[in-house]
Amino acid sequence: MYELRKVGTESADLLMQLWTTTFEQAYRDVHTADNIRAYCRENYSLEAAVTVLSSTQFDCTIAYDNDLPVGYGLIHYQTCPAPLAGASCELKQIYILSSQYGSGLGRLLFEHALQIARQACCQWLWLCVSNLNARAQRFYQKLDFAPIAPGPLLMVGSDLLPSTILAVNIDD
Ligand SMILES: CC(C)(COP(=O)(O)OP(=O)(O)OC[C@H]1O[C@@H](n2cnc3c(N)ncnc32)[C@H](O)[C@@H]1OP(=O)(O)O)[C@@H](O)C(=O)NCCC(=O)NCCS
Repeated sequence: MYELRKVGTESADLLMQLWTTTFEQAYRDVHTADNIRAYCRENYSLEAAVTVLSSTQFDCTIAYDNDLPVGYGLIHYQTCPAPLAGASCELKQIYILSSQYGSGLGRLLFEHALQIARQACCQWLWLCVSNLNARAQRFYQKLDFAPIAPGPLLMVGSDLLPSTILAVNIDD
């Protein structure tokens, strides 16, 4: 049984650990260890975690399984760069430990993010996903996300990855 907790700066260390562990697990077959380390160093510092967790522009939820952290979801209250008819916010990240893939935790975190976005009066959730991330593409396709625009080139160390912006209408 999973428990979802909204977290603040007291969980900065934990978020930093989850950022790096889940990123490494997700991409170790795609990027070299050096590139993964470089990405984590640039993006997943303790300072970055404190910045995110102390900002009203973000909403972070950590999932626990018997008090052990097993994944997280992060919403960024940021309008989609591609045109959408109505207010939108970004589902910045849903990352779970690889031991939890296929468990339903990803969907649970998504449904929680949906509630938060609806409470914030958003009509759309959008996100950016690497075109190489077939598991995530399939996951979001099952949740009715559709591609709406090409995304930015994502940099992981020396790797450059094309991405796609996906969105789903979340009007009740
Ligand atoms: C994205 C994530 C939250 C999804 O959770 P999950 O438990 O893996 O999701 P599900 O098992 O419900 O769905 C994944 C689907 O991808 C499929 N899949 C797995 N590997 C695949 C691959 N290499 N190619 C295509 N499909 C694949 C699975 O079979 C499943 O589809 P199905 O239910 O039709 O069989 C989780 O995989 C994760 O944390 N990944 C790492 C972080 C990440 O990529 N986040 C998104 C960044 S935008």
